[in-house]
Amino acid sequence: MNNPKSKASQSGSEARGDAVGQSSGSSPGFSRRNFLKGVATTAVSAMAAQTAAVAQELEKANAEKVLGPGAVPVTLNVNGTQLKLMLEPRVTLLDALRNYSSLTGSKEGCDRAACGACTVLMNGQPVYSCQKLAIEAQGQALTTIEGISANGDLSPLQKAFLKRDALQCGYCTPGFVMSATALLAQNPHPSVDEIKHACSGNLCRCGTHPHIVAAVQEAAGIESSNPTTFIEYASLADEP
Ligand code: FES
Ligand code: FES
Repeated sequence: MNNPKSKASQSGSEARGDAVGQSSGSSPGFSRRNFLKGVATTAVSAMAAQTAAVAQELEKANAEKVLGPGAVPVTLNVNGTQLKLMLEPRVTLLDALRNYSSLTGSKEGCDRAACGACTVLMNGQPVYSCQKLAIEAQGQALTTIEGISANGDLSPLQKAFLKRDALQCGYCTPGFVMSATALLAQNPHPSVDEIKHACSGNLCRCGTHPHIVAAVQEAAGIESSNPTTFIEYASLADEP
């Protein structure tokens, strides 16, 4: 006989039995046991995922540690050419250019980010090459002073440095030229303040700063703000 009341009573007892973790026969309903099993499975899965992530990080760290102290292959993209070198990871970009290749135009003045004589361009931005490891510079477009003249023809800025007598000993000059080259590429008509700001990371111990500003103005086609009369030594060399 169908007795709705007895069915309801049966279901109620199953539900109560499940809720306290007692046997519920073949019923797959919610139970404390199933709940605890689920929690345990989730916790184990999360722990396994965490362990895998930690193992991956360790593997990465170990892979990074294997560089050095001996020489490792390093490829630098300098002036549009691939430079393949064997360098210890401690070698700076400046050292790599000057002592492991023939690019000696960048100068070492202080080797501590104070003078700017070592300035090169990295992706068009001036950087101190003495403060950059060569291995860090891989994959970047590097330009040195050798790369801004084409087939031995000086850049307009380099010619302006000669014309405006913007150097004495010349040791700082490559660094200034690189900083000013980056400036003119981004700002073809800079103000005097902008020129000074762009070259503020470069020092000239010979004191040619006013001439350097005039040279940058000359290259930019701006009338010089410097009232000094320049002797064009470069042109004197052409005289018979
Ligand atoms: S040599 Fe790099 S800043 Fe002086
Ligand atoms: S020209 Fe001599 S340090 Fe600048």
